Amino acid sequence: AKILVINGPNLNLLGIREPGIYGRKTLEEINEELRREAESQGVEIEFFQSNHEGEIVDKIHDCLNKVNIIIINAGAFTHYSIAIRDALQAVNIPAIEVHLSNIYKREEFRHKSVIADIAVGGIYGFGDLSYRLALEAALAFLQQGH
Ligand code: DQA
Repeated sequence: AKILVINGPNLNLLGIREPGIYGRKTLEEINEELRREAESQGVEIEFFQSNHEGEIVDKIHDCLNKVNIIIINAGAFTHYSIAIRDALQAVNIPAIEVHLSNIYKREEFRHKSVIADIAVGGIYGFGDLSYRLALEAALAFLQQGH
């Protein structure tokens, strides 16, 4: 089984970007923890970050017949990228939505996710723990035979 973790725009700056909201861990540190956990469960995991919508769409297309589940923090694209939503639907691979912050207690424009209703589920508001919880959910989902 294989899991792909996608991070969208500005998440490459984790650690220095608004640490009061997003925490002090870098994306590399977060990914390393996920890698360790996935590998301890015998599951392959790959990481992808891009600031470009089209690159994320291309990466989702590349998942066809290769990836069993996608964990995605689409960053600001979450709120308006129909292209990323359509790509997830096109490949028909289950996705788990992740956010470090609780998007529902922030600005109104962050309250809408165009991914939420096509995702298996979502986890938000727990900082970097959101990713580990999403991984746990992904592993459980795979174990159920998906
Ligand atoms: C985010 C929330 C988004 O609103 C924001 O644009 C991000 C990060 C989060 O993880 O909390 O870039 O997805």
